[in-house]
Amino acid sequence: MSQDSSEREQWSTRIAFILAAVGSAVGLGNIWRFPFITGENGGAGFLLVYLLFIVVVGFPAILVEFVIGRHTERNPVGAMQEIGRGAWQYVGWVFVVATFVIMSYYSVIAGWTIRYTILGLQDGYMADIDAAASQFGQLSVGLEAMALHGFFLLGIIAIVGLGIRQGIELAVKVMVPAIIAIVVGLAAWASTLSGASEGYSFYLEPDFGRIASEWTSILPDAAGQAFFTLSLGFGIMITYASYIDEDRNLAEDGAIIIGFDTAIAVLVGLIVFPILFTAGVDPGEPGPGAIFVSLSAAFGDLSVGWLAGTVFFGTVIIAALSSAISLTEVVVSYAVDEHGMDRLRATVFVCMALFVLGLAPAYDLVFLDLYDGLMNGILLLLGGLLISVYVSWLWAGPAVEELEQGVGDIGPLGTTWVWLVRVPVLAVILVSLWLGIVDY
Ligand code: PHE
Ligand code: NA
Repeated sequence: MSQDSSEREQWSTRIAFILAAVGSAVGLGNIWRFPFITGENGGAGFLLVYLLFIVVVGFPAILVEFVIGRHTERNPVGAMQEIGRGAWQYVGWVFVVATFVIMSYYSVIAGWTIRYTILGLQDGYMADIDAAASQFGQLSVGLEAMALHGFFLLGIIAIVGLGIRQGIELAVKVMVPAIIAIVVGLAAWASTLSGASEGYSFYLEPDFGRIASEWTSILPDAAGQAFFTLSLGFGIMITYASYIDEDRNLAEDGAIIIGFDTAIAVLVGLIVFPILFTAGVDPGEPGPGAIFVSLSAAFGDLSVGWLAGTVFFGTVIIAALSSAISLTEVVVSYAVDEHGMDRLRATVFVCMALFVLGLAPAYDLVFLDLYDGLMNGILLLLGGLLISVYVSWLWAGPAVEELEQGVGDIGPLGTTWVWLVRVPVLAVILVSLWLGIVDY
C-alpha cells in the first residue's frame, strides 16, 4: 500500500528544508568525529585533504541524492525501486541497513554527551588525564550508558513521531541557530587561551611531507569523514529532498548546506586544538573516547572549564539530536510510504529495534569501534558508490533534467557535474573503499 503522493507532506518553506538538512549534517561527525580523526591524522595536512574532498566529492555527491529524492518524491528504498533497473532496484536496502548500524552506536555516543553535560554541572571535570580516562571507562559502558542511550531515543520518538512540519522543522529552527551561536562563542573564548597559537599551528599549518607519507590513511579517513559529515551514503538527502518543491535550485541549496557544515567543523577545530594544547594533551590520541577524555581533562584544567564544558557538551546533544532524527526518518518514511504504517507507531517500533541493537556498543566499546570502522570505512562509501555509479552512468539524462528544474537550462554545467561524478568522485570512493577494506 503506497501513500498517494498528493497527500505527502512537504517542507513549508525553503529555509525549513535547508535548516533540516543542515541539522542532519551538523552533528557528532563535526564535533566528536572530526577533531579526533583530524588529530589522529596529524592536523593541518588532513584538514587540507578533507576540505578538498568536501568540494570535489561531497558537493557533486550531495546533488546525486537530491535529484533522486526530488524526482521520485519517495523514501530511499522506494526511490531506487522506481528509477532502478534489475539489481539496482534493491540498492535502497543498503541505506536501511547502514542506517540501523550507525544509529545503534550514534545514540550511544549521544548518551555520553548527555552524561558529560550533567558531569559539568554536578562534579565538574577531572584535570588529571589518567583520572579522566578511567572516568570515561566507567561512564561510557554499562547500565547507565544503556539507559542514556534509551533516553536519547525517547527524544527522537517525540520529534519524529510528530511529523515533518510540527516535529522536525520546529526542532531544527531552534537548534541550528543555537549551535552556530554557541560554537562561535566557544571559538572566541578558546582563542584567549595560552596554548592557542600552538593549537592553531598544529591545525592550520600543513606538513606536506606527512600527507605524502601517510596518504594511505589520510585518504580513506578524509573521504569517509566527508561522507559521514554531509550525511551522504545513507539516503538521508534522498529522503529530505523528497519533500521539496520542483521550483528550488538544488545546487544552490546544496552549496549552502555544505557551507554551514564545513564552517562548523572548522570552528570546532578552532575550539578543540587550542584547548588540547593549553592543557598539554596529545591531540593524536586515538579512539572514540579521545575527545571525551582529552576535552574533559582540558576543561577540568581551566578556570571556568566546568561552564565551558557544560555548554559545549550540551550543544553536542542538540546537534546529535537533529542528526539522529534524520537517520530515523529514513526508516520511518520507508515504513509509512511503502507499508502505510502509522507514523508514530513506525517511529516507536524503529526506536525499540535501535535500542536493542545499541545495547552491544553500550556494553563494550569493542563493538563501537567495530561498528564505526565498518560504517565509515565500508558501508557508507558503498552506498555512495552504488548510487553515484547508477546516476552518473545509467541515469544521467533524467538526473540532469531534475537538476535543471527550478533553474532553467544550465548548459555545460550539467555535463560537468555528471563527469565529476563519473570520474573523480568514483575514483576517490573506490580507492578509499579499497584502502578502508584492507585496513579493516
Ligand atoms: N552528518 C552527521 C554528523 O556529522 C551524522 C550523520 C551521518 C547523520 C549519517 C545522518 C547520517 O554527525
Ligand atoms: Na556533519
